[in-house]
Amino acid sequence: MTTTEQVRDTGWNQRYGEEGEEPTAASDVVRLQLAHRSVRRFLPDEVSEPELRALVAAAQSAPTSSNLQPWSVVAVRDPERRRRLSTLAARQSFVAEAPLLLVWVADLGRARRLAESRGSSVDAADYLETALIGFIDVALAAQNAVVAAESLGLGSCYVGAIRNNPEEVAAELGLPPHAVAAFGLAVGRPDPSEHAGVKPRLPQQAVLHHEQYDAARADAHLAAYDERLADYNERYGLGGAWTDRVLARLAGPQSMAGRHRLREALEGLGLPVR
Ligand SMILES: Cc1cc2nc3c(=O)[nH]c(=O)nc-3n(C[C@H](O)[C@H](O)[C@H](O)COP(=O)(O)O)c2cc1C
Repeated sequence: MTTTEQVRDTGWNQRYGEEGEEPTAASDVVRLQLAHRSVRRFLPDEVSEPELRALVAAAQSAPTSSNLQPWSVVAVRDPERRRRLSTLAARQSFVAEAPLLLVWVADLGRARRLAESRGSSVDAADYLETALIGFIDVALAAQNAVVAAESLGLGSCYVGAIRNNPEEVAAELGLPPHAVAAFGLAVGRPDPSEHAGVKPRLPQQAVLHHEQYDAARADAHLAAYDERLADYNERYGLGGAWTDRVLARLAGPQSMAGRHRLREALEGLGLPVR
């Protein structure tokens, strides 16, 4: 395979644009990853139990801090429960429509229960560092499941909005103390009628630094990305420049859909962040 064929074959151009033609190593996994897109419209077909087990096995195969495995996942198939969760997650209809909703849980409950049964103290679990381990590890696991799903012909979309109402979501899923839903993942077979493509990302020059961070050099690539994403958005009937969207999303607590009170919710659910 020539270098140019490698480049074309990986989906590099879709991700970075024509001008970004640079040699890249290729593999089936890299090709799959470069072709990723979030799927928000699904066929009614069920995700089978063997498929679900494969996703969870892929997730559990991810690295995990000190082998703590501080996460759990709740598979929700019941349409009524998915509808209620969709309401809690900013009324996003794809959450109710996907045949399977996986809710990924940062879970320090297992270790806390172990400590209780042994009469041990786990005071380190009260610290931000430990909560972060839970959230980092569950994200690594879920992303392994996303890649596995795509390799099986399934599609998915994360649902961060599940954190809009952490207490209600915990009650709906019967979560024990010290367990918090980090995000959802709607999973199903992609409906080919969905008008969506591979979304361009920032040029690598904006995110990849060699040896030391060079903010001015990296940020010089934002304007070109704004234009490229605007073209993409126009093709798919979406609006707004990337830079404007970033600023709007982070404008203040009012732009956080209720998540500005997450620290308080974590405390209440038993994941304090000292
Ligand atoms: C943690 C996380 C939470 C997300 N939450 C939502 C969500 O609530 N609703 C939604 O439509 N997309 C959600 N997304 C999907 C992103 O919008 C999407 O990944 C991003 O726009 C890039 O598009 P792509 O995945 O198609 O490349 C989420 C993604 C991540 C990683």
